[in-house]
Amino acid sequence: MTGMNTDKSGSTAARGSGVVVVTGAGTGIGRATARAFAAGGARVVAVGRRAEPLRETAAGHGPITPLTADITAEGEPDRIVRAVLAAHGRLDVLVNNAGIVRGGALGTLTPEAITAQLATNLVAPALLSQAALPALERSGGVIVNVSTSVGQRAWPGNAVYAATKTALELLTRSWAVELAPRGIRVVAVAPGAIDTPIGEHQGLTPERRAAVREWQLAHTPLRRIGRPEEVAWAITGLAAPGASFITGVVLPVDGGAVVA
Ligand SMILES: NC(=O)c1ccc[n+]([C@@H]2O[C@H](COP(=O)([O-])OP(=O)(O)OC[C@H]3O[C@@H](n4cnc5c(N)ncnc54)[C@H](OP(=O)(O)O)[C@@H]3O)[C@@H](O)[C@H]2O)c1
Repeated sequence: MTGMNTDKSGSTAARGSGVVVVTGAGTGIGRATARAFAAGGARVVAVGRRAEPLRETAAGHGPITPLTADITAEGEPDRIVRAVLAAHGRLDVLVNNAGIVRGGALGTLTPEAITAQLATNLVAPALLSQAALPALERSGGVIVNVSTSVGQRAWPGNAVYAATKTALELLTRSWAVELAPRGIRVVAVAPGAIDTPIGEHQGLTPERRAAVREWQLAHTPLRRIGRPEEVAWAITGLAAPGASFITGVVLPVDGGAVVA
């Protein structure tokens, strides 16, 4: 069973009846993560803006409930948590996975691109985590944030995105310390190059996506692109009862990119 800190709710976790929220669960890493938690016996609430991809995530993959929501819209973080508690009565794991990329070097940035990335990648995870706090305290729960491994270094042409993720990592470390006395763990994963539609969602042309992939391969010691399931393994593992002494870490899942 994946998902729960055993300190306060060990028996429930062991029976696999924990409740997990995954944002951005309609595609890519979020989809794989929702399915991995469900395969471990958790009840999963899959959040995203588009209903159809969420339905595809859920179809035939166990107890996954789609919840259509824009996490950046006013009041939505609170509404999501209220809906989860109304349906399931508890919340054990929050996976802040939804994220967007709007590339651009200084001199080409638009206010819309900056604020959209901040709103999705930073403000929404903060408000969702805050809304989830009382429920996570009751369950002895876990917050898992999804960062990026490339953001550990300079990222010319994509610095605003990297800045939102670096900030998310600082929140991870800080909240881990703040929330440890309340029995809540806070961790993060930092994926490298993973095979998802994120480049399409960013609006990159097929040629540009191919160029990015070539660059990523050249900078990944394992010399391949990762699979969403490999990130999901790390997320479910860090949220699992066996990880009960791990908090405040950011785990790279990047084929060695960050150490090369
Ligand atoms: N793929 C990589 O190489 C890579 C590397 C490092 C880090 N990451 C991070 O991994 C996470 C998952 O990305 P991915 O690669 O799986 O990309 P993806 O397929 O584009 O997934 C992002 C998901 O977030 C959802 N989303 C975006 N804005 C939202 C909003 N306002 N409210 C609710 N849902 C929203 C999207 O669905 P809707 O459009 O339907 O809302 C989409 O399903 C992101 O945080 C990304 O930054 C990815």
